[in-house]
Amino acid sequence: MASPMLQLTIWCIFCFINCCLCLSSAVGNAILPLRMARVGAAEAASRLPFRHNVTLTVTLAAGTPLQPVTMVLDTGSELSWLHCKKSPGLRSVFDPAASRSYSPVPCSSQTCRTRTRDLPVPASCGPEKLCHTIVSYADASSIEGNLSSETFQIGTTARPGFLFGCMDSGQSSNPEEDSKTTGLLGMNRGSLSVVTQMGLEKFSYCISGSDATGILLFGDANFTWVGPLNYTPMIQISTPLPYFDRVAYTVQMEGIRVSGKILALPKSVFVPDHTGAGQTMVDSGTQFTFLLGPVYNALRNEFAEQTKGLLKLYDNPNYVFQGAMDLCFLVPLGRARLPALPHVALMFRGAEMVVSGERLLYRVPGLVKGNDQVHCFTFGNSDLLGVEAFVIGNHHQQDKWVEFDLANSRVGLADVRCDLASQRLGLDS
Ligand SMILES: *[C@@H]1O[C@H](CO)[C@@H](O)[C@H](O)[C@H]1NC(C)=O
Ligand SMILES: *[C@@H]1O[C@H](CO)[C@@H](O)[C@H](O)[C@H]1NC(C)=O
Ligand SMILES: *[C@@H]1O[C@H](CO)[C@@H](O)[C@H](O)[C@H]1NC(C)=O
Repeated sequence: MASPMLQLTIWCIFCFINCCLCLSSAVGNAILPLRMARVGAAEAASRLPFRHNVTLTVTLAAGTPLQPVTMVLDTGSELSWLHCKKSPGLRSVFDPAASRSYSPVPCSSQTCRTRTRDLPVPASCGPEKLCHTIVSYADASSIEGNLSSETFQIGTTARPGFLFGCMDSGQSSNPEEDSKTTGLLGMNRGSLSVVTQMGLEKFSYCISGSDATGILLFGDANFTWVGPLNYTPMIQISTPLPYFDRVAYTVQMEGIRVSGKILALPKSVFVPDHTGAGQTMVDSGTQFTFLLGPVYNALRNEFAEQTKGLLKLYDNPNYVFQGAMDLCFLVPLGRARLPALPHVALMFRGAEMVVSGERLLYRVPGLVKGNDQVHCFTFGNSDLLGVEAFVIGNHHQQDKWVEFDLANSRVGLADVRCDLASQRLGLDS
């Protein structure tokens, strides 16, 4: 669920294609380096609640001859798209006119009529009788363009006929916020997603918590150093329900533990209701983790309680970080390390995701109160964002091997040092 307008200060984006090539043949799968990029600060909360500071980007190439494209990895959305129209705010644009293999999809085609079924906004027939597609976001901004087919180079493999949206630059109210990435890689389970188009049975990623590196792997992760994964089944509901995203990676949460203490909540609060509200999605396109109100409040209270003697509460009822995170603390300016904090375990059926240490708090950039900096708890309240779901964001997936095993309909988790994983695969640069 990333937004089309990402303001990024990117570490470096262009040199990674070669690095992947040497490795992918050895393993027989495509391995791609991931990069974390910072998104412009203040606008994050106002534009789109789900777009937070950090996005995961991957560099691929598209077209004939190949053009490098940097795309945000988003397991929360379906359609991959590229900016195709130059506009002042954009640094990187895909130029379809410069590619011999580009072709727009006509709206009379079977592809336009059937493959776009899972998209949140149905495709329509544009003036030139082309398949017109719209990607819209929670803040009512949207981008539109032509559903098209093109050759994408993913790892060592060229994939002709890959479907994506060739988009204009959208109705950005602030062009400076516009993306410096070229687009987005839609990785959910919908019919047009990369996963479906490539027929992937499995993919994994590993996001480093200590630097801006990561790995995206298409195919089997058979590395002994990853260790055994704990699996949690993916949940499917076949009847369409208004709030249930059927093409998301949905797992079943069963409880939350703060250190040794399980929050006193009935299991039913984690089960989607008759409207589909209350599903738990694993979303790489969201930074932090968001929980429905009653669960958030229980966690918030327990964490505040257990950190009473350790942290000083920032007691300002008017302050809510990024519109959804209202548990914040004051940490003395010169302090190098946070005290040892209780860990938070998200308990899924069959697997746990343990979040500990520094990852539990996020320093609010530029916010200083007297001699203190403000640090906020990295879980937020979905209700404040108007979101009817539990969303597990990428911040809490750091230093975990996260495997999406589609063939067996399950998600696997293991604790891993992802910076070392990148090194082992020779992807750090
Ligand atoms: C995002 O990260 C950058 C770099 O650490 C920081 O300068 C910026 O203020 C952050 N924005 C938010 C909203 O946290
Ligand atoms: C979509 O196709 C039409 C017709 O070729 C073209 O005029 C328009 O610029 C295209 N849009 C984008 C974003 O490339
Ligand atoms: C994965 O490892 C197992 C056991 O070591 C082996 O039998 C299998 O062929 C490997 N698969 C791949 C894709 O490398």
